[in-house]
Amino acid sequence: MATSRGEFSSRFGFIMAAAGSAVGLGNIWGFPTQAASNGGGAFLLVYLVLAFVLAYPALMAELIIGRHAHANAVQALRLISNGPKSYKVGTAVGLAGIVAVSFILSFYAIVAGWMITYLCGSLAEIVGLTELANWFVEFGPVRNIGSMLIFMLLTIGIISEGVHDGIERWSSRLMPVLIVTLILLVLYVLTLDGAMEGLRIYLIPDFKAVMDPQLVVKALGAAFFSLSLGAGTMLIYGSYIPDEGNLPVLGGWVTLVDILIAVAAGFLILPAMYVAQHNGVEIFAADGSLLNEDTLIFTVLPALFETMGGMGILVSLMFFALMTIAALTSSISMLEVPVSYAIENHGMSRKRAVFLAGGIIALASTVILLNFDSLFGLVVAGTTRYAQPLLGIMFCVFAGWIWHRDSILQELRKSEPDAENGLFWRVWPWYVRFVCPTIILLIFVQSFIG
Ligand code: PHE
Repeated sequence: MATSRGEFSSRFGFIMAAAGSAVGLGNIWGFPTQAASNGGGAFLLVYLVLAFVLAYPALMAELIIGRHAHANAVQALRLISNGPKSYKVGTAVGLAGIVAVSFILSFYAIVAGWMITYLCGSLAEIVGLTELANWFVEFGPVRNIGSMLIFMLLTIGIISEGVHDGIERWSSRLMPVLIVTLILLVLYVLTLDGAMEGLRIYLIPDFKAVMDPQLVVKALGAAFFSLSLGAGTMLIYGSYIPDEGNLPVLGGWVTLVDILIAVAAGFLILPAMYVAQHNGVEIFAADGSLLNEDTLIFTVLPALFETMGGMGILVSLMFFALMTIAALTSSISMLEVPVSYAIENHGMSRKRAVFLAGGIIALASTVILLNFDSLFGLVVAGTTRYAQPLLGIMFCVFAGWIWHRDSILQELRKSEPDAENGLFWRVWPWYVRFVCPTIILLIFVQSFIG
């Protein structure tokens, strides 16, 4: 099977693709805004701990299962099952991942579409088309559906080219652009008046907040969403890693890049908020709390850019280009999940599978947009708060309890003959068996109690 499927052609290509999946709106928008409204440095601290001790081992579970099977999640979980019961559960978990990730993409494409409209708005502003620029940034059905469709078409275009020519090539092009743009923006914003106040909030933890159980719940959600876990995306990317690839090292790189970019985005967003305040933009709501996640990107930042004169338009252009790129390298990984399933389990051609899956998801996005107030929040919560942690637990259960240990070791030995004496093998098997599912479950239950 492996030969007829695509494969990543280099270590760099895989890291860019998987880091591209991981780095998205979750890092550049979600993480910094949650940090801003949840104790600043405290959130950063908890996020860092959770990313290393929980998200990395869970990521490894998906990568190893995927690489072993060289197949989509449904096939992969069936392959490592040890009896008819786990075979059925594996099928159900794989299918649930496909449904979950499709719903994630359906709301993600809406938000990513807005990034494109703000990007177009900045361009229109540059050429003096102020009225058009205003239309681009106003909430309206034509703009919303149109921009979502454009974003979906970009995603479809890349995925229809396959693993090497589509995913790997575009991730390897876009990720370096993203990193350079982010660094330039951070450096610029840090020179502005008011930035240091934001930096202080970001870096000094409020230790009272660290003890808040709800903060831990939110930080875990952020880490899981940010590393694209519990959706089968990392499993499918893992399935395209050639056998020579050293999985623990590759997974480590992906985690590191993901965390570094989230942390770097914090150095952009929090200082930017306080620069905005310094320039007279309101960043606190009437009750004294920070304006929340939903309004920040689309109100506070554009208001800030406006106070910056000509430079503001350029910064705005760079910022929304950054967001669009980040979203695109993530959305392609999401669409690949249903597409690989349709190809491998239903014998569809890639082109057909891509258009079918992309079309259904675009339809779901349209339904959400037409019933925005009742559906949007529901889909976000249903997928990110419930589906992702639960499926994450199931991937850990499969790797820790159902899959035969010897077979896992064999898999690791393919690239590292001495794997059983390494640190990874001494810690990870029992860790993913006991620690990961228990802690994820505890935090999950806590999210209902709190
Ligand atoms: N990791 C992506 C982000 O941070 C979102 C994502 C979730 C991607 C699930 C794939 C699967 O924006």
